[in-house]
Amino acid sequence: MSTLFSPLSLGPLTLPNRIVIAPMCQYSARDGSATDWHLIHLGHLALSGAGLLIIEATAVEPEGRISPDDLGLWSDANETALARVLTAVRTYSNMPLAIQLAHAGRKASTRVPWQGGDHIPVSAGGWQTVSASDLPFDPDDSAPLALDEAGLHRIREAFVAAARRADRLSLDAIEIHAAHGYLLHQFLSPLSNRRQDNYGGSLENRLRFPLEVFDDVRHAFPSHKPVGVRISATDWVEGGWEVEQSIAFVRELQRRGAAYIHVSSGALSPKQKIPLGPNYQVPLAEKIKAATGLTTIAVGLVTEPEQAEAIVSTGQADLVAFARAMLYDPRWPWHAAARLGAQVDAPPQYHRCQPHGLKEIFKPLPPPR
Ligand SMILES: Cc1cc2nc3c(=O)[nH]c(=O)nc-3n(C[C@H](O)[C@H](O)[C@H](O)COP(=O)(O)O)c2cc1C
Repeated sequence: MSTLFSPLSLGPLTLPNRIVIAPMCQYSARDGSATDWHLIHLGHLALSGAGLLIIEATAVEPEGRISPDDLGLWSDANETALARVLTAVRTYSNMPLAIQLAHAGRKASTRVPWQGGDHIPVSAGGWQTVSASDLPFDPDDSAPLALDEAGLHRIREAFVAAARRADRLSLDAIEIHAAHGYLLHQFLSPLSNRRQDNYGGSLENRLRFPLEVFDDVRHAFPSHKPVGVRISATDWVEGGWEVEQSIAFVRELQRRGAAYIHVSSGALSPKQKIPLGPNYQVPLAEKIKAATGLTTIAVGLVTEPEQAEAIVSTGQADLVAFARAMLYDPRWPWHAAARLGAQVDAPPQYHRCQPHGLKEIFKPLPPPR
């Protein structure tokens, strides 16, 4: 019996297996609105048999976009465009769908990666960025504005409004993006947060804004639907945010009703030194799970079915997320099921494709109504 292919419950939401499609920015929206690209991209990923699909980092306000082409959920037009995509996806897939709500803070206003990804200053058509303090990510970037009370309030309200839109879109779960050096991580890390008020300084103060956002989103989204959080468990920089602080943060999130913690790392500082390699973030997930017992998603350079099976069967994490491996092979869960002797959901239109001798990969279809 494969653990990777056993179900897992996030409250009342039951995932058919432990394979999570990690959020992946597509930089293919127009004024924050999803396009046909999203229909194609999410459409094919939703046929993959994974247990959960997390839609890419979705900006809660225009200034929170990494690039001008990011997906957003701040307007009626954004909601309508995403509704069209989701209606099509749901017609052909029962896969649970989550959305990652995000604000890029000082890492906003950049070109899309395939145009170099560099910072766009206001003078070149970009926009004024905001952060915990007025420290840029890179010394060459223009400085962000340190958010004042009104700015913090505006952003909390933007998260709330987006959470309500996510519910109206019948999304099954929300993931709050507090990782990868974006706004909420900028509040957590002592490297980017140099505030003197009660949002900076002590660990308790640095946790305050991300926890307020969590509380507001948790409150705005129906209580039976899960809200999880993605963190960078360490900055990989001496004197920065690290795993013991992450554990303290996760304990607070857990007390407030977080459904899961998604453990990534890095991307707050150009000075990071990351020991890249297979499973390199799994020990971070393992430590957090051991310390808190919260449902944990491991992610990062997991590519093989046996590798993922070992992570969940030894209890290092409860779920495993895949980003690049899923883009490279969008049928990864099918192939993993074949290797591990398990079964996945697949659309009936494709049932005849099972290779000879592997006739049991697809779960049988429910009887016709
Ligand atoms: C194309 C691409 C887009 C990404 N966009 C996001 C994103 O929107 N939100 C996020 O938290 N991480 C994002 N990531 C990071 C992935 O979710 C994942 O954490 C990382 O790629 C490591 O996992 P992997 O080794 O399975 O690719 C992105 C990664 C890729 C390759």
